[in-house]
Parts: sequence; structure tokens; C-alpha cells
Amino acid sequence: MSDTNHASGDCAAASEASLPGHRMQAAPYPHSDMTPNDAMQTSLQDPTGKVALITGVTGQDGAYLSELLLAKGYVVHGIKRRGSQFNTGRIDHLYQGPQEAGRRFILHHGDMTDTASLIRVMQQTRPDEVYNLAAQSHVAVSFEEPEYTANSDALGTLRLLEAIRILGLEQTTRFYQASTSELYGKVQETPQRETTPFYPRSPYAAAKLYAYWITVNYREAYGLYACNGILFNHESALRGETFVTRKITRGLARIALGLQDCLYLGNLDSLRDWGHARDYVEMQWLMLQQAHPEDYVIATGRQHSVREFVNTAAALLGVTLDWQRQGIDEMAVIERCGDHEALRPGQVIVRVDPRYFRPTEVETLLGDAGKAREQLGWTPRTTFTELVSEMVDADLAAARKYALIKRNGFKAFAHHE
Ligand code: NAP
Ligand code: GDD
Repeated sequence: MSDTNHASGDCAAASEASLPGHRMQAAPYPHSDMTPNDAMQTSLQDPTGKVALITGVTGQDGAYLSELLLAKGYVVHGIKRRGSQFNTGRIDHLYQGPQEAGRRFILHHGDMTDTASLIRVMQQTRPDEVYNLAAQSHVAVSFEEPEYTANSDALGTLRLLEAIRILGLEQTTRFYQASTSELYGKVQETPQRETTPFYPRSPYAAAKLYAYWITVNYREAYGLYACNGILFNHESALRGETFVTRKITRGLARIALGLQDCLYLGNLDSLRDWGHARDYVEMQWLMLQQAHPEDYVIATGRQHSVREFVNTAAALLGVTLDWQRQGIDEMAVIERCGDHEALRPGQVIVRVDPRYFRPTEVETLLGDAGKAREQLGWTPRTTFTELVSEMVDADLAAARKYALIKRNGFKAFAHHE
């Protein structure tokens, strides 16, 4: 079985990683609620003997899902693409070096745009479950790279499904497709549920629309156990830095420590249904454990604006904001600074920059996860404030680390976008 060079490229460091059945560290699953003992108990009591293949294993959801499946006793194979630098920061704690015996977390090089690599990994791993999480997942970027987005997000899904078919795995391999609330785009009803018509508003959403329907088609045409999880926005401290939630928590934490002056945002009125990624990957797994494959909306059923997200994050830092002016001149001015010495009342810390507006915007998303609740017993566990709090805490810690590095005379750079 082929194996990749691990991102850290350092077997000594990498072999520190702890997994059930191997050496245990204090927190082998730092992104889940699992303690080392929980994880060990789970794997010993209920070994599934199952094999999963995750595309997009290096992403936010890939990291949470890997932790979940490893804790359930799966052997987890992940496809990562080759980069000029390490890109496995979110999963380094799970890594097991090629020389370790009894590995249960194995990375393979591959790319959603490269059919041969997908067939090869599928053939080598012959998974019970495939979780297709890989995607160019940034909506704004999809306007700049529409063709690549279609290739990886739409055709990439087709390539994986075809790999299952070519290898004759239709009856044995179950398939999860990471579909999205962006399919609803210019929403046709509120809240959105499984029966709500789609109206995609970006190249990303159009590509995901193809992926949604080709997944349905392979289910109907070839009897494949294939499901779409229509997931509304889900966030965490592992969220990419340019998605709006992480941009806000990271930006405000840095501003609070005097490392950044101002946070520039786009559409402050945009409304989203934000949940926690840790809760959502449980549903990805649950969808593949049913008697029949179906598609499910996953959402919290609660909605907040970007402006409200800023207010909540600021409040958790002890900062009160006064929003002044309208439109592209709107700005957030500090009323109360909390105990942050770097801040002063009257300081403008959020402004609008139209470059973050999208050619076509999805103004509002609000999901109804009633079907998942009734059929699968799923409800989100993390509240909005708990989510924002977790993100603020993590970004404050990261900002403090950055400040320490700088104070000690080392060069450090941080992008503000
Ligand atoms: P993410 O953090 O952006 O992760 C995307 C993953 O896909 C990364 O591992 C990335 O690799 C990989 N990838 C991108 N292009 C690839 C290619 N051509 N070949 C192989 N791998 C590729 O996204 P996420 O938030 O975890 O989301 C997971 C999936 O759910 C995505 O499909 C996304 O569209 C979908 N989704 C997300 C949300 C949400 O709110 N998070 C909601 C609905 C649906 P690198 O690490 O090398 O970049
Ligand atoms: N990224 C970003 N940056 N978004 C901003 C900004 C900004 O500075 N200012 C305002 N926004 C608005 C966007 O216009 C959008 O309406 C909203 O904040 C959320 O933007 P993102 O966090 O980039 O997420 P998204 O909703 O476009 O897409 C995410 O969720 C989808 C599910 O609905 C991604 O994770 C997609 O992959 C996912 O499918």
C-alpha cells in the first residue's frame, strides 16, 4: 500500500501521535470531547473493523471526522494533495509513521482532479465508507477560480463515484457527499429543508449542485448506498482563516492584543445558520449507518448576522462596540475596552471593504434539520455563544503566542485577510 511522506517529515515527532491501542498522550483528540480513556474504551469495546476513506482529510471537517472514526475503531485512510509546504497541521496529532505497526491512520497522495490517483487509492484501500469532503470550499474564491472549482468539486465527485463503480464496489462501499446549504442560494423558502428547491448563486454552488445530483443519480442508477449531507455553515477553531467567522475571531483577538489595527469585512447583514463542526461530523457518520441511503439537512435552526457575530466575539473579549454610519461607511467603534491595554474608547476596529462583496450574494440561510432529528435522533449540542467562545479563546491563545515570538525578537508575519 502506498504511503505519503508525512507533512512533518519527521518520524520522531510524528510517532509521538497517540491513537487507541498505541501510546497515549494527554489529549490525542484535542478537537473532540473524548478523553484518552474514552477513546480507548470505545475502540476496545466496539471495534468496528471498518475501513473509511476520507478525501479532504487535511481540512476542518476531515480533522474532526478522522478523530471520530478513529475513536470508533475504524482504520482511516485519508487523501491529501501534494503541497510545496506541509498542509497537515490539523491532523498532525493523529499521525502514525509508516514504520509503526498496526497503523490505523494512513495518508495517501491524491487529488480530486486526478482520476488515476483516486482509482488507485480506492483500489488499495477498498473502503467500507467513503467520505467525500475534498473541495475548493471558498465561495468567494470560486468566482476567481470557477473552472478549477468545477473540476475538483463537481467532476471530482463523479471521479470518486466512478472509481467505486469501476472497481465493482457498488454493493460494499457506502458514499457520503459533502453537500451544502449554498445549494439554496437565493432561497425559495425559509427555513430550508430537504424539499426546498435549489437556486445556486456561485460557481462553487453550481459545482456542488452537480455533485449533489450525480450522487443521487448513482444511488438510483446503480443501487449505491450514497447520501448527501446538506450541511449549513459549521465552524470551529480549525476553520480556515478567510471564512468570515474565523476572520472575525482571529482579527478581534489580534486587535485586542495590539497586533492589528482594524478588521475589514464585506456584507455585515448576511445571515447564516452557524453550527459547530464537531457536532456536524457525527451526522456525516450517522448517515452512512442507516438501513437506506437518504439525504439530510443539518443545521441549528438559528440564524445570526455577520454583525451579530462580531458583537458576540467582541463581548466575549470584554469589548463593547457602537456601530456607526451606514452601507460601505459603516464601522464599529469601541465603547468599552474591557481590560485590554492596547485598546482605547473611540477606536474604530471594524470597517467595510467592498472588495469582500460577492458578485452574487447568498443573503440568508436558515436550516430545518427536522428530518435528521426525527429519523436519526440528531440535534446540535453546541450553542452559538459556546461556538464563538471556543473560537475566540483559541485565537486569543494563538495571538498571545504570536506576540511572545515577536517580543523575543523573532520575525513573525500574519496576514489580515
Ligand atoms: P476545508 O477546510 O476547506 O477543507 C477542504 C479539504 O479539501 C482540504 O483538505 C483540502 O486540502 C481538500 N482539497 C481541496 N481541493 C482538493 C483537491 N483538488 N484534491 C484533493 N483535496 C482537495 O473545508 P471544510 O470546511 O472542512 O468542508 C468540508 C467539505 O464540506 C467541503 O466539501 C465543503 O465544500 C463542504 N461544506 C462545508 C461547510 C462548512 O460550513 N464548513 C458547509 C457545507 C459543506 P488542503 O488542506 O490541501 O487545502
Ligand atoms: N469570507 C468572508 N469574508 N465572508 C464575509 C466577509 C469577509 O470579509 N464579510 C462578510 N462576509 C459574508 C459573506 O458574504 C457571506 O454572506 C457570509 O459572510 C459567510 O461567508 P463565509 O464565511 O465565507 O462562508 P459561506 O457561507 O460563503 O460558505 C461557507 O458555508 C457554506 C455552507 O453554507 C463555506 O464553508 C462553504 O464551503 C459552505 O458550503
